Amino acid sequence: MNKINDLDLKDKKVVIRLDYNVPIHDGKITDNSKIVKSIPTLKYLLNNNCRITILSHLGRVKSEEDKLKNSLNLIAKELANLIEKPVKFIDACYGKKVSDLVNESTNGEIILLENTRHMDYPEKLESKNDLDLAKFWASLGDIYINDAFGSLHRAHSSTAGIAKYLPHAIGLLVENELSNLNILIENTPHPFTVFMGGAKVDDKIKIISSLLPKCDALLLGGGIANSFLKAKKANIGSSLATDDPKILEELNQLMEKYKGKIILPIDFVIDDGIIYDIGSKTIDLYKKYIKASKLIFMNGTCGKFEDERFKEGTENLFAVLKESKNDVIIGGGDTAAAAKQFGYENDFFFISSGGGATLEYIASKELEALKWMEK
Ligand code: 3PG
Repeated sequence: MNKINDLDLKDKKVVIRLDYNVPIHDGKITDNSKIVKSIPTLKYLLNNNCRITILSHLGRVKSEEDKLKNSLNLIAKELANLIEKPVKFIDACYGKKVSDLVNESTNGEIILLENTRHMDYPEKLESKNDLDLAKFWASLGDIYINDAFGSLHRAHSSTAGIAKYLPHAIGLLVENELSNLNILIENTPHPFTVFMGGAKVDDKIKIISSLLPKCDALLLGGGIANSFLKAKKANIGSSLATDDPKILEELNQLMEKYKGKIILPIDFVIDDGIIYDIGSKTIDLYKKYIKASKLIFMNGTCGKFEDERFKEGTENLFAVLKESKNDVIIGGGDTAAAAKQFGYENDFFFISSGGGATLEYIASKELEALKWMEK
């Protein structure tokens, strides 16, 4: 697999896939870390006098309304501020208007196309790795760089198929992520504890199954913990959890198979019958596992940490993890945002920009999009 400095980039037209899927609340980017982390590769390209066309997704697009909600417009402004250069944003990611703009651009210019997942409605093209779409994006450049670490577990047109049509390489962020995570993967120290929380339950179930044989304890919080509790027929009211009966059944099977390894919260912060956070007894319980571990990976938060009333579980978990700081890897956009919010962003061995991608790499040593970069 090529690294960026394996290629001659001087004066080239580069199409680069970045992961600008950042958290946005009330029209404001609440954590710009993914944009900040993309700057070194962009500067590397600018130093080579490249013309740069950026591709990224934002959120999921399943309707016309989602298209309006998930525009990269805001990101263009943030990137321009951070890189101290104009960034041309175009409200399309496909078609003549896009090709014309790229063709008219000059070396040293940066163009950001609209959300690649706009091509997921009405037909799911981007996410199905449609090769005609990939070919179109490839037509915008001489070279393809993939620096979207957080999206490498997705074989989509912009992360995978496009590599079929252009000379390609991974960017500096991906290189850095892989080398840090390889330390963990190649020689995992034990006891290895994973904390998993957050909301993307249905997405994470597959990863949980492959992580369980590898870790010594899986501590749970957020919607993931609620789903396990629901599977056990605990009364969780309308708390966030999966509704899929197949997944609930799978969770039961996992609890049966990995008895003693899956650790669920024992107390909660509840409002109006809904679980919003884990309680202090749970933190004390989790602390015992964390203190005894040689490696801890945290993905997802304990509850609705953005709300003052429900931040304590997540904040206290960071405080506990800080005591083991050199053994801790943090992954996931929300988790990184929470670490920053509570002032812990410099307290761990490594904060990965990936969520699902990081989990999948740790669990299987494979990332779907990387396979296309090897071809
Ligand atoms: C992430 O935030 O984990 C990545 O951007 C991937 O997003 P996705 O789960 O919507 O593909």
